[in-house]
Amino acid sequence: MNAITKRQPRVELSTSALQHNLKCVRELAPQSKTICMVKADAYGHGIEFALNALQDTDAFGVACIEEARQIRQLGCSQPITLIEGVFNEAEWLEASQQQFECVVHQQQQVDWALAHPQIYQQNNLKIWLKLNSGMNRLGLQPDELLKAAHQLRAAGFELVLTMHFANADVPDHPLNQQQIQTFLNLKQQLESIEASCCNSAAIFNWPELHFDYVRPGIMLYGASPYSDISAAKLNLRPVMHLKSNLIAIQHVKAGQVIGYGSRFTTTRPTRLGIVAMGYGDGYPRALTHGAYVSIHGHEAPLLGRVSMDLLAVDLTDLPSTINIGNEVTLWGDNPSVDLIAQHNNTIGYELLCRLTNRPKRIIF
Ligand SMILES: Cc1ncc(COP(=O)(O)O)c(C=O)c1O
Repeated sequence: MNAITKRQPRVELSTSALQHNLKCVRELAPQSKTICMVKADAYGHGIEFALNALQDTDAFGVACIEEARQIRQLGCSQPITLIEGVFNEAEWLEASQQQFECVVHQQQQVDWALAHPQIYQQNNLKIWLKLNSGMNRLGLQPDELLKAAHQLRAAGFELVLTMHFANADVPDHPLNQQQIQTFLNLKQQLESIEASCCNSAAIFNWPELHFDYVRPGIMLYGASPYSDISAAKLNLRPVMHLKSNLIAIQHVKAGQVIGYGSRFTTTRPTRLGIVAMGYGDGYPRALTHGAYVSIHGHEAPLLGRVSMDLLAVDLTDLPSTINIGNEVTLWGDNPSVDLIAQHNNTIGYELLCRLTNRPKRIIF
């Protein structure tokens, strides 16, 4: 038995996996520039880590100016695109000076651009004009977009036509073709305009739509953009490995209940492993039956409810050499974060983003 000297939940982050996944994007979309999406603290992986590992990218994509400022302060010199654009006139001026390219998705943003074109244009920044092609989240309707494009071009702005898919993860969804047709139609009407519409799933689905820039997010981090195709099948490598250790073992008889709410009753004499990991670390509480952790290559099913700092796993069918102090993988190669997400009725994106800062980050 190994002595436990401290609580050890940790997030191990693989630089080489992140770089491998970026290489996959490059191979899939060799003619396009890559905008690595690093919003939400690089999908929960830590912005500084991601910036260092993704030096090879053409640009970074963030949600808002606060995130862009942060990555400039960390020394990033690549172009940065604000995918929600600016929220007021002062932000427009700051973006112009700091060389942040802006998405424009509503008329007010067009007006700020028209009022202050000089610095933005002197810095050779393009405006990303966002089409609402059917997702009905952000974007101008086709007629509004044509009007804005004419106004902005007349004022000397260079434009990129952009949109976002609502169902790229379901390639056969009928809305995809509708969105594509609307986009292509506008692209044709606007003649010789740069274009960008592909997130991770779209990069896999539609090579013919890669255009000038692709915008991968989840695939960079080695999780799958699809619910029915694993990341491993897509040749992606998990960047984040959530780990901890076994800190106690209980031997319980058949008919005993385990954990808060006594939600699980043992049906046989059970060797129970207690792992130092809980929802206070970001591991999901609402797991449905069937999730597991891996310990030295063996799968150990979760039993009972996940609590704030601890969870219980069934070691009964594992070798008896598995013991206190052994390393436990909560997600990484096996199980994948996508599998744990499925058992939690959510997607890998959410689990990655909602880790807390309690587990120690270790970069390797
Ligand atoms: C506009 C835009 N482009 C690209 C992405 C990246 O998407 P994904 O993580 O599915 O690759 C996102 C993510 O939400 C987005 O909002």
